[in-house]
Amino acid sequence: MKIQIPKGLFDILPYGDSEKWRLVKYWQYVESIIQELTKDYGFHEIRTPVFERTELFDRGVGEQTDIVSKEMYIFQDKANRSLSLRPEGTSSIMRAFVEKKLYALQKIHKLYYVAPMFRYERPQAGRYRQHHQFGVEAIGIALPEQDAEIIDMLWHFFSRIGLKDLTLHLNTIGDSSCKLNYITTLKNYLAPYLSDLSKESQIRFEKNPLRILDSKDEQDIKILQEAPTIHDCLSNEAKDHFEQVCTLLTEIHIPFTINPKIVRGLDYYSRTVFEVSCLSLGAQSALGGGGRYDGFTSVFGGPSLPGVGFGSGIERIIQTMIAQNISFPNISNPFIFFIPLEEKSKTFCFSLLACLRHANISSEMDFHVKKIQHSLQRANLLKATYCFIIGENEFNSKQGKLKDMQTGKEEMISLESIEQKLMHLWEKK
Ligand code: HAM
Repeated sequence: MKIQIPKGLFDILPYGDSEKWRLVKYWQYVESIIQELTKDYGFHEIRTPVFERTELFDRGVGEQTDIVSKEMYIFQDKANRSLSLRPEGTSSIMRAFVEKKLYALQKIHKLYYVAPMFRYERPQAGRYRQHHQFGVEAIGIALPEQDAEIIDMLWHFFSRIGLKDLTLHLNTIGDSSCKLNYITTLKNYLAPYLSDLSKESQIRFEKNPLRILDSKDEQDIKILQEAPTIHDCLSNEAKDHFEQVCTLLTEIHIPFTINPKIVRGLDYYSRTVFEVSCLSLGAQSALGGGGRYDGFTSVFGGPSLPGVGFGSGIERIIQTMIAQNISFPNISNPFIFFIPLEEKSKTFCFSLLACLRHANISSEMDFHVKKIQHSLQRANLLKATYCFIIGENEFNSKQGKLKDMQTGKEEMISLESIEQKLMHLWEKK
């Protein structure tokens, strides 16, 4: 019996998948950019478990949110504890941060993670039941500079990859008092239209009214056109903070659009919220999003600290790279491919292969002696930069043929000097 992968999941393969975005070279490239970026912005990696106690997400993300009420993978363990696969990273990071008392070690914390997340959603292009997020969380600074640093980092993550046609939507949802005021104002405005709203929005009216602003239903959008915005209910502090974030982003030339409809689907946000989307992605266009979550640490029994972060979906980033034809250096192609054409030269090639690898030069060799065309085909498949070919005559005269695979140029090199020659070419590349 064939056993298939569960719905909404996918494998990431080195080759053999017709869907390019599932090929590992793209994932490795994006991960290499993440390594560079986090180093440049001074972030440290944190790794937390794939599952947590269910109540962590009930309290963290919010019981009324779609993520918790509809999309969590929940199971009982053998001791009847309720556990959940993590649907997002921020709650887990805050749990670890408080549990391990990282706050007692220093004032400012800049953390990042690259990790799978699980949401029981209806699978479609760009939406999976396991997806991977690159996320960052900056804890300890309440100033607008911290919001701007995080937004700048997300924007430059995408520009380092080379993505184009992106839009940054920016908003504030104020502090908790502004948010409560706004919920009342919005509900007062919507109440007369309640029966005209979509079924989903009618449910949200009671449970999570801010999410009505996210509705894609045409009638809801029409009704919302005249709705008051959060900006009508902001405190002076929240307004000031938002204006400073906008000024800082303008100062560092990050283009943004203020969009009062961006509220985000998780309960922990306050003040700044943002999303970056790419129109060419279709319905699931959000490449990343985040916001400020001041005081979130206190939900898990820690001191009340300010925080701000983002999460970005790697699947959607790679799909955009492919749609936009973005090329990148192939990190794993061999620099040199050895082709011994008879048994005697195999040992010579094998020992040189090991020697170059020990010097961190990526090298490959055909262990089977075969026809030269077949070996060259493999070298081409692996996108080798050079081939070194030793036939019987060459071996007897103590030389081999070095072939530049891009230009096709060939040169005879003595076996004595080939190692030095390759080292020299490697340094020059
Ligand atoms: P989120 O907006 O729920 O935020 O997810 C972040 C990103 O993950 C989305 O913008 C999208 O690119 C990707 N994503 C989400 N769900 C799926 C899915 N089912 N399939 C594919 N990609 C998906 C958060 O999770 C917050 N924890 C972000 C954050 C960190 N806020 C502050 N710090």
